[in-house]
This record gives sequence, structure tokens and C-alpha cells, in this order.
Amino acid sequence: MNILLIGTGGREHALAWKLAQSAECDRLFIAQGNAGTALSGENVALDFKDFSAVKNFVIQNKISLVVVGPEEPLVIGLVDFFLSDEQLSKVAIVGPAKQGAALEGSKDFAKAFMQKHNIPTAAYQTFTKETLQDGIKFLGTLKAPYVLKADGLAAGKGVVIPETLEAAIAELTDMLSNERFGAASRKVVIEEFLPGIECSVFVLTDGVSYKILPEAKDYKRIGEKDTGLNTGGMGAVSPVPFADVAFMKKVEDRIIRPTVDGLNKEKIHYRGFIFIGLMSVNGEPYVIEYNVRMGDPETEVVVPRIKSDLVKVLHAAATQKLNTQSLEIDPRFAVTVMMVSGGYPGDYAKGKEIQIKKTSESLVFHAGTKNENGKLLTNGGRVLSITSFGETIEEAVGKSYEQIGSISFEGQYFRRDIGQDLM
Ligand code: AMP
Ligand code: GLY
Repeated sequence: MNILLIGTGGREHALAWKLAQSAECDRLFIAQGNAGTALSGENVALDFKDFSAVKNFVIQNKISLVVVGPEEPLVIGLVDFFLSDEQLSKVAIVGPAKQGAALEGSKDFAKAFMQKHNIPTAAYQTFTKETLQDGIKFLGTLKAPYVLKADGLAAGKGVVIPETLEAAIAELTDMLSNERFGAASRKVVIEEFLPGIECSVFVLTDGVSYKILPEAKDYKRIGEKDTGLNTGGMGAVSPVPFADVAFMKKVEDRIIRPTVDGLNKEKIHYRGFIFIGLMSVNGEPYVIEYNVRMGDPETEVVVPRIKSDLVKVLHAAATQKLNTQSLEIDPRFAVTVMMVSGGYPGDYAKGKEIQIKKTSESLVFHAGTKNENGKLLTNGGRVLSITSFGETIEEAVGKSYEQIGSISFEGQYFRRDIGQDLM
């Protein structure tokens, strides 16, 4: 079958790399991809926001399966468009409809969903400009630190955790009165701070049944020992040692099954990935957030561990036949280390030439890269994601650092402590 994958990052290179290995895959198109996805398929200059252009492309190229990488196409209703179009309604598409995408697109919706379906999460209340004074009073009832979340999509920057009540009040006022995050902070969720250790669980559902994919831990801060600014993610490890059988059973019973059943009960069309950000508080799992897509760079460790044919699995999810599939997972550790442009997550230069002097068994997934006149150039903050396998985290991460040793571009930076907290 012909497949269209939407997205441009390291997540999409890992997905493209895996989809292209399937005997079921004839032509693979990536909109718009990067220099890495071009090694696994054909990059196309298609804008997902232009739904009628997507429709023409899907029909002209006889696409049978569409895989949506990022959340934005889902939040703006790409799946709804397919479902309501006569010619497209037969095309299998992986991702939730708009209503399901609100699990990521609106923190308030996600919290209300969890409350309704008894899914463990931090206690919370939601406020608007009109109820700012109530919000300030609510802050007074909580203990420091305070967790404030802009309701809408804010490019990963919408969560702030002030340490003092004064700072929290100032922050809340700025978010609501000054729309600090634009329309995204017209509503603000204030919630109880959960102390613990984080991990991400990935689920693929067809709306009725589900498969649990390998879990992962990512490293969000730019600096070693988790210091400095938040980034999209500087590295990831899978499996996560503390997510043992007992913990994962709690996650499945208290979170995964109630989530899928809740979507089903509410008749929300959801055939795609659910990314559950968890906090383990003394071994008890709580949901920090839902995302309606795979994580990046988590995909760069989760997908390589999947041994089964991903085209078959994804097609089955999109056509509600997931219960016919089984998943085989590589038991080894996979670790990815992200190489980023100097200055990221602030301003950084693009167009620096990348030299890869030697390759190894490590997987070099491209995030922000492009080809120009036969040269490989940086084209984003996150540039390359280097994934390796090992019997231990030490072994896997060591291989990634060795591969990084033969890659260079001006201003390159990476964290040297990926996985260290789990060893
Ligand atoms: P989110 O964008 O919802 O993933 O939040 C960003 C980060 O804020 C999370 O990865 C956590 O580290 C932290 N965080 C969010 N909510 C809470 C909470 N209720 N308690 C403690 N930390 C939190
Ligand atoms: N790495 C976190 C995310 O993809 O949201």
C-alpha cells in the first residue's frame, strides 16, 4: 500500500525508517520530512493545513494509510475532514478526531475527562480572567510549589511552576489578564504539585482495544543534571527500570483501560496514539498530561524496540482491527541522545554543514536537517537523534556517544548525562 506520513522531525524519521521496512509498504511519502526521511521515502512539499491539497494528494497517489506525526493536524481537525469526506472516508488514518485531540489541545478538557472517569491525576481548578480573584484565593489554599497550566497549545511552554505564592499570583495574573500565552492562556488550570519521578507510557488504540507500546523517559532540560531551560527533549531511554510489572499493572488498570473505555463511552473517534505523561508518587501512577501523538525523542527509542510490522499494526488500529495483531518488543535497552544547535532552545543558527565521518550500528535519526547541493545542513534546533541498543543503559548510551564522536557541525551541543539517573 502507499502511505502518507505527516511531519518533519526526528519522530517522523524513526517512523519512516520503520514503515519503509514493511513488505506491505509500496510508496512512502513524507510531508514534509527532512534529509533523513528522504532516505526512507519521498519527501513532498504538502502543507497539512491545506486540507483540499491533502485530499488531492491522497487520491492522486492512491494512499491507503495516513499516519499523522504531530498534534497540530489532529487539533485542527484533519481526521474529522477525512471522516466527513466521501472519497476519503475509506482511507485509513492514524490519529484521533478533533474532540479526542482536545485531550492534548485543552488541559481543562483533559482534567475534566480524568475526573469523570476516575483516572488518578493532581487535584485542580480552572480559572478565567473573570474568575482571577477566585484563582488567587485557590492558590492560597495550596502548598508551594504551584503548578499553573495554560489551557491551550503553547509550544510546550505553557506550564509554569512558581516556588512562592507571590510569584504564582503574579504569574496567574499575567497569564489571564495579559494573555501571556495568547488565546492558549484564556483559561488556566491550577493544580496540586505532585512530587515524584516521571515516565511516559505510549498506547495505540483503535477506539475499543489497545496495545501498550514500550514506555520511555525523556530528558527535557537543556543542561546536565536537569538544569536550565525546557526543550522538546534532549534524549530518551526505554525501557524505564522503575516501570516494572507491578507499576505497569497499576498504570493499565487505573489509567490506560479507563482512558480507552472513557473515549469509547463518550463516543469520541480515537484511532491512534495516546501518550500518557505519568508521575510515579511513591510507586503510585498519576497522569500529568495526555498527548495525542507519539513523543519526540521518545519515538526514537520506542519504535526501534518494536519488532512487529508497524504498517500492519497501524493499519489495524486505523481500521479497528487491532485485536488481530500482536506486538513483539525487543527486550534490550534503547537510548537516544539528541545533538542540537548551539543556542537552542533560544536563538540558534541554521545551515551549518554536518559531517558524519564514520557510521556504526547506531541509528542516526534526522530531526532538523536538509540537503542542499549534495550537502547535509542543520535546519533546526534539534538536529540529529542518535539511538543505540545495549543489554544495559551504560552500553547503549556509550555506543551513542561513540557515534556522536564522529559527527560534527559548528556549535553542536548534546547532554553527556542521558540515562545516568537510571543506571
Ligand atoms: P506538561 O507540559 O503538562 O508535561 O508539564 C511540563 C512539566 O511540568 C512536566 O513534565 C512535569 O515535570 C511538570 N509538571 C506538570 N504538572 C505537574 C504536577 N502536577 N506536579 C509536578 N510537576 C508537574
Ligand atoms: N518529548 C516530549 C514530547 O514529545 O512532548
